Amino acid sequence: MMMKTGTYAFLLFLFFYINGAVAQQKIVDNSKGLKDYYKNYFPIGVAVNVQALTQYKSLILSQFNSITPENAMKMAPIHPQENRYSWRDADSIVSFAQSHGLRVRGHNLCWHEQTPYWLFKDSTGGRVTKEVLLKRLHDHIQTVVSRYKGKIYAWDVVNEAIDDDSTRFLRNSLWYQICGDEFIIKAFEWAHEADPKAILFYNDYNTERPEKRERVYKLLKMLVDRHVPINAVGIQAHWSVYEPTVSDLKKTIEQFSSLGLKVQVTELDVSIYPWEKERRAKRPGESDTLTPELEQKQLEKYTEVFKIFRQYKKVITGVTFWNVCDQFTWLDQYPVPGRKNYPLLFDVNQQPKKAYWGVVNF
Ligand code: GLA
Repeated sequence: MMMKTGTYAFLLFLFFYINGAVAQQKIVDNSKGLKDYYKNYFPIGVAVNVQALTQYKSLILSQFNSITPENAMKMAPIHPQENRYSWRDADSIVSFAQSHGLRVRGHNLCWHEQTPYWLFKDSTGGRVTKEVLLKRLHDHIQTVVSRYKGKIYAWDVVNEAIDDDSTRFLRNSLWYQICGDEFIIKAFEWAHEADPKAILFYNDYNTERPEKRERVYKLLKMLVDRHVPINAVGIQAHWSVYEPTVSDLKKTIEQFSSLGLKVQVTELDVSIYPWEKERRAKRPGESDTLTPELEQKQLEKYTEVFKIFRQYKKVITGVTFWNVCDQFTWLDQYPVPGRKNYPLLFDVNQQPKKAYWGVVNF
């Protein structure tokens, strides 16, 4: 039977359409993500909030095999009142991870920032005693770690306890003023008690800078010497296209792991601006574009640091990025509110940047 030209054309169209769709599907199916390129090295993680789980769902699932709650498990959000925990966001992130087979890093149990208003106060509004503060820390750790026992494989137990002033050792935080160094030791002991299988981390930034590295090392050594149950150290890696140097990074990994501790890169991003600590306003005329030169520098820095991570794969047990793509990064608000930054491997449209290809082509 003769087929009408129109029908024939339609069938031809259908054939190519279906084939095209299948071909496209194949490309998507075959595309490897960061986690696949690094499957013989270490898990690749990303920090998320609850919105990211829907907004960037397919990017997260195709690229990463570990997640860290960006804020949801910090003490203020998860424990807003002494007798009330707020589990909703933390639970959603953990159950997302469970249903998609991702690991979860818990972040964090004890930090001087993002603390709830009640924590350091007694009932008359005065400063709480050491006994009471340690009891609160114990109850917090016991409750949070137990809830996620077996679901969270690693915890940042103490975050950023070293002072910013290079001539001082421990940060003069309220934790320290009230408890001395005991809060650090106890935090690890109680986390271990609550989940003996969890891998316990000390986590800090600028750890590659020699002056800071020495002080972090001193703290880690003190903990190891006292048989405190610490297993690993988190190098936050809030870096820039200008730092760290190869030798500083290698020295840090070598020095920390010489104590028998594993190392993870826990909060990686590569800012296009030099590091600044203090918040400030954007200067008139201050540019905030990703120029081709900066993009090239960023490609080089990412390529260089991942080469080092691969060289140290025996001690590096994970690399986590701090946010998913350049559409949303905490560095848009810090240290210069409203100055756009582009620190990640995916651009504002969730597409891989040049730096991505530097990381995966080895
Ligand atoms: C520190 C903390 C993180 C996060 C970043 C900024 O590195 O460890 O939880 O707050 O600052 O986003």
